[in-house]
Amino acid sequence: MELDRIIITEEAIQKRVAEMGAQITLDYQDKDLFVICILKGAAVFMSDLIRQIRVPLEIDFMSLSSYGASTKTSGVVRMLRDLDTEITGRHILVVEDIVDTGLTLTYLCENLTVRKPASLKICTFLDKPSRRKVELTPDYFGYAIEDFFVVGYGLDYNEKGREYPYIAAVKQ
Ligand code: IMP
Ligand code: MG
Repeated sequence: MELDRIIITEEAIQKRVAEMGAQITLDYQDKDLFVICILKGAAVFMSDLIRQIRVPLEIDFMSLSSYGASTKTSGVVRMLRDLDTEITGRHILVVEDIVDTGLTLTYLCENLTVRKPASLKICTFLDKPSRRKVELTPDYFGYAIEDFFVVGYGLDYNEKGREYPYIAAVKQ
Protein backbone atom coordinates (compact mmCIF):
# COMPACT_ATOMS: atom_id res chain seq x y z
CA MET A 1 0.00 0.00 0.00
CA GLU A 2 1.30 3.43 -0.95
CA LEU A 3 0.09 6.52 0.89
CA ASP A 4 -0.77 9.65 -1.01
CA ARG A 5 -0.73 12.15 1.85
CA ILE A 6 -1.74 12.62 5.47
CA ILE A 7 -5.10 14.36 5.61
CA ILE A 8 -5.64 14.49 9.38
CA THR A 9 -2.66 14.65 11.74
CA GLU A 10 -2.36 12.88 15.07
CA GLU A 11 -2.63 16.24 16.90
CA ALA A 12 -5.79 17.20 15.01
CA ILE A 13 -7.35 13.81 15.77
CA GLN A 14 -6.67 14.06 19.50
CA LYS A 15 -8.01 17.61 19.68
CA ARG A 16 -11.20 16.70 17.84
CA VAL A 17 -11.79 13.55 19.90
CA ALA A 18 -11.51 15.62 23.09
CA GLU A 19 -14.14 18.04 21.73
CA MET A 20 -16.45 15.17 20.81
CA GLY A 21 -16.07 13.62 24.26
CA ALA A 22 -16.90 16.97 25.88
CA GLN A 23 -20.03 17.35 23.74
CA ILE A 24 -21.20 13.81 24.51
CA THR A 25 -20.57 14.44 28.23
CA LEU A 26 -22.83 17.51 28.06
CA ASP A 27 -25.55 15.72 26.12
CA TYR A 28 -25.71 12.73 28.48
CA GLN A 29 -25.60 14.52 31.86
CA ASP A 30 -27.44 12.38 34.46
CA LYS A 31 -27.61 9.40 32.09
CA ASP A 32 -25.68 6.16 31.82
CA LEU A 33 -24.30 5.38 28.39
CA PHE A 34 -24.01 2.08 26.58
CA VAL A 35 -21.30 2.42 23.93
CA ILE A 36 -21.29 -0.05 21.04
CA CYS A 37 -18.02 -0.26 19.12
CA ILE A 38 -18.27 -1.57 15.57
CA LEU A 39 -15.28 -3.85 14.99
CA LYS A 40 -12.67 -3.67 13.82
CA GLY A 41 -12.34 -0.14 12.46
CA ALA A 42 -13.83 1.79 15.38
CA ALA A 43 -11.72 0.13 18.09
CA VAL A 44 -8.99 2.79 18.07
CA PHE A 45 -11.38 5.75 18.01
CA MET A 46 -13.66 4.26 20.65
CA SER A 47 -10.83 3.63 23.09
CA ASP A 48 -9.71 7.26 22.82
CA LEU A 49 -13.26 8.62 22.87
CA ILE A 50 -14.47 6.89 26.05
CA ARG A 51 -11.55 8.39 27.97
CA GLN A 52 -12.87 11.85 27.04
CA ILE A 53 -16.44 11.10 28.22
CA ARG A 54 -17.29 11.96 31.82
CA VAL A 55 -20.54 10.05 32.38
CA PRO A 56 -20.75 6.44 33.61
CA LEU A 57 -20.65 4.04 30.67
CA GLU A 58 -20.37 0.44 29.59
CA ILE A 59 -18.89 -0.83 26.36
CA ASP A 60 -19.65 -3.75 24.08
CA PHE A 61 -18.65 -4.81 20.59
CA MET A 62 -20.42 -5.80 17.41
CA SER A 63 -18.87 -7.09 14.24
CA LEU A 64 -20.57 -6.74 10.89
CA SER A 65 -19.41 -7.75 7.47
CA SER A 66 -20.73 -6.70 4.10
CA TYR A 67 -20.48 -9.04 1.16
CA GLY A 68 -18.60 -7.76 -1.88
CA ALA A 69 -15.32 -6.19 -2.91
CA SER A 70 -13.03 -4.90 -0.20
CA THR A 71 -13.34 -1.17 -0.89
CA LYS A 72 -17.04 -1.17 -1.82
CA THR A 73 -20.09 -1.83 0.34
CA SER A 74 -22.74 -4.07 -1.20
CA GLY A 75 -25.44 -3.28 1.35
CA VAL A 76 -25.94 -6.92 2.26
CA VAL A 77 -24.79 -7.11 5.86
CA ARG A 78 -23.95 -10.15 7.94
CA MET A 79 -23.61 -10.07 11.73
CA LEU A 80 -20.42 -11.82 12.83
CA ARG A 81 -20.59 -10.91 16.51
CA ASP A 82 -23.57 -9.71 18.51
CA LEU A 83 -23.71 -7.93 21.89
CA ASP A 84 -23.18 -9.85 25.13
CA THR A 85 -26.07 -8.10 26.88
CA GLU A 86 -29.59 -6.83 26.37
CA ILE A 87 -29.96 -3.12 25.61
CA THR A 88 -33.66 -2.59 26.26
CA GLY A 89 -34.12 0.76 28.04
CA ARG A 90 -30.46 1.75 27.66
CA HIS A 91 -29.03 4.90 26.09
CA ILE A 92 -27.07 3.56 23.12
CA LEU A 93 -24.20 5.31 21.37
CA VAL A 94 -22.99 3.42 18.29
CA VAL A 95 -19.36 4.26 17.53
CA GLU A 96 -18.13 3.83 13.95
CA ASP A 97 -14.91 4.65 12.14
CA ILE A 98 -16.49 6.04 8.97
CA VAL A 99 -19.91 6.41 7.38
CA ASP A 100 -19.70 5.93 3.65
CA THR A 101 -22.84 4.74 1.80
CA GLY A 102 -24.62 4.50 5.17
CA LEU A 103 -25.91 1.02 4.36
CA THR A 104 -24.07 -0.74 7.20
CA LEU A 105 -25.35 1.63 9.88
CA THR A 106 -28.87 1.67 8.49
CA TYR A 107 -29.01 -2.09 8.81
CA LEU A 108 -27.49 -1.94 12.28
CA CYS A 109 -29.85 0.75 13.57
CA GLU A 110 -32.89 -1.21 12.36
CA ASN A 111 -31.52 -4.25 14.13
CA LEU A 112 -30.92 -2.34 17.39
CA THR A 113 -34.24 -0.47 17.32
CA VAL A 114 -36.10 -3.79 17.54
CA ARG A 115 -34.49 -4.25 20.97
CA LYS A 116 -36.21 -1.07 22.27
CA PRO A 117 -33.33 1.04 23.61
CA ALA A 118 -34.25 4.25 25.51
CA SER A 119 -32.30 6.20 22.86
CA LEU A 120 -30.01 5.47 19.94
CA LYS A 121 -27.37 7.83 18.54
CA ILE A 122 -24.53 7.45 16.07
CA CYS A 123 -21.01 8.75 16.57
CA THR A 124 -18.55 8.38 13.71
CA PHE A 125 -15.03 9.69 13.43
CA LEU A 126 -15.20 10.26 9.66
CA ASP A 127 -18.09 11.02 7.35
CA LYS A 128 -18.13 10.85 3.54
CA PRO A 129 -21.52 12.50 2.90
CA SER A 130 -21.05 12.62 -0.90
CA ARG A 131 -21.11 8.80 -1.03
CA ARG A 132 -24.41 8.29 0.77
CA LYS A 133 -26.91 5.84 -0.78
CA VAL A 134 -29.46 6.07 2.04
CA GLU A 135 -30.44 9.03 4.18
CA LEU A 136 -28.42 8.82 7.37
CA THR A 137 -27.05 11.71 9.43
CA PRO A 138 -24.63 10.89 12.24
CA ASP A 139 -25.43 12.60 15.56
CA TYR A 140 -21.72 13.20 16.11
CA PHE A 141 -18.89 13.21 13.57
CA GLY A 142 -15.23 14.12 13.80
CA TYR A 143 -14.46 15.21 10.26
CA ALA A 144 -16.34 15.20 6.98
CA ILE A 145 -13.98 14.20 4.14
CA GLU A 146 -14.16 14.02 0.38
CA ASP A 147 -14.44 10.80 -1.51
CA PHE A 148 -11.02 9.24 -1.24
CA PHE A 149 -10.07 5.97 0.39
CA VAL A 150 -8.35 6.55 3.72
CA VAL A 151 -6.43 4.45 6.23
CA GLY A 152 -5.14 4.88 9.77
CA TYR A 153 -6.60 5.46 13.23
CA GLY A 154 -8.33 2.06 12.99
CA LEU A 155 -9.28 2.20 9.32
CA ASP A 156 -7.70 -0.35 7.01
CA TYR A 157 -6.95 -1.14 3.41
CA ASN A 158 -7.10 -4.95 3.15
CA GLU A 159 -6.45 -5.14 6.93
CA LYS A 160 -3.33 -2.95 6.74
CA GLY A 161 -2.73 0.53 8.15
CA ARG A 162 -4.99 0.41 11.22
CA GLU A 163 -2.10 1.30 13.54
CA TYR A 164 -1.17 4.61 11.90
CA PRO A 165 -1.82 7.44 14.37
CA TYR A 166 -3.03 9.74 11.55
CA ILE A 167 -5.56 9.51 8.70
CA ALA A 168 -3.96 9.21 5.27
CA ALA A 169 -5.31 8.92 1.73
CA VAL A 170 -4.24 5.78 -0.14
CA LYS A 171 -2.65 6.12 -3.57
CA GLN A 172 -4.81 4.12 -5.98
P1 IMP B 1 -21.03 1.94 4.51
O1 IMP B 1 -21.32 3.25 5.22
O2 IMP B 1 -22.05 0.89 4.75
O3 IMP B 1 -20.77 2.15 3.06
O4 IMP B 1 -19.69 1.30 5.02
C1 IMP B 1 -18.91 1.83 5.98
C2 IMP B 1 -17.75 0.88 6.19
O5 IMP B 1 -16.96 0.78 4.99
C3 IMP B 1 -16.85 1.42 7.24
O6 IMP B 1 -17.18 0.93 8.51
C4 IMP B 1 -15.48 0.97 6.80
O7 IMP B 1 -15.20 -0.31 7.31
C5 IMP B 1 -15.58 0.86 5.30
N1 IMP B 1 -15.01 2.04 4.63
C6 IMP B 1 -15.67 2.97 3.91
N2 IMP B 1 -14.84 3.92 3.45
C7 IMP B 1 -13.61 3.58 3.89
C8 IMP B 1 -12.30 4.19 3.75
O8 IMP B 1 -12.09 5.24 3.12
N3 IMP B 1 -11.28 3.55 4.36
C9 IMP B 1 -11.45 2.39 5.07
N4 IMP B 1 -12.65 1.80 5.23
C10 IMP B 1 -13.72 2.39 4.64
MG1 MG C 1 -16.01 -0.56 9.59
